[in-house]
Amino acid sequence: DDTRIARISSAIRVIPDFPKPGILFQDITTLLLDPRAFRDSIDLFVERYKDKNISVVAGIEARGFIFGPPIALAIGAKFVPMRKPKKLPGEVISEEYSLEYGTDVMEMHVGAVQAGERALIVDDLIATGGTLCAAIRLLERVGVDVVECACVIELPELKGRDRLGDKPLFVLING
Ligand code: PRP
Ligand code: MG
Repeated sequence: DDTRIARISSAIRVIPDFPKPGILFQDITTLLLDPRAFRDSIDLFVERYKDKNISVVAGIEARGFIFGPPIALAIGAKFVPMRKPKKLPGEVISEEYSLEYGTDVMEMHVGAVQAGERALIVDDLIATGGTLCAAIRLLERVGVDVVECACVIELPELKGRDRLGDKPLFVLING
C-alpha cells in the first residue's frame, strides 16, 4: 500500500495561492491524468469497502462525482448524487451548511435511498468537515446508516475529523 499511496500523493498537484492568497490548493485533476495512480486510489477504497454490505455510495458535488461512481460500480452499490441547490429535478430534501463566508445548501432526491440502507459518503477532500457533516445529516434524516466517510485528501490542521464526531473517516493522503 505504501507504493500506491506514494504514487497517489505524488500525482496530486499543490497550487499555492489558489483560489485566494495563502491557500495551498490540492489539485486532483493531475491524479486523473495518471491512470495508474487514479486506479490505485479507487482500488484502495474498493478493497476497504467491498465486503462491508454498503448499498449506496453518496457522492458530493462536484469532485465526489469523480471518485464515487467507480467505487459504487466496483462494490455493487448504487450511486446517489448530493448536489448544489436547484440542480436536481425531482422532489428533494435539503440541508444548509456553513462555509468560510456564508452558507450553502446540499440537496438529495427523495426516494433515492430508503431507511435502513448502509451508505458510504465519498468526496475528494475534507477541510473543515462542514460539507461531509451536511451529507451525513441528509442521509441520517431519512434513516440511512452512514457507515463511513471516505476522502482522497485530509487537511488535518483544519480539524474536520473532530467535527464528524464518532463518524468514521477514512482518507488516503494527508495534505
Ligand atoms: C471542496 C472539496 C470538498 C469541500 C471540503 O469543495 O471538494 O467538497 O470543499 O470543505 P469542508 O470540509 O471545509 O466543508 P467545494 O465546496 O470547493 O466545491 P466543488 O467540489 O464543487 O469544487
Ligand atoms: Mg467539493
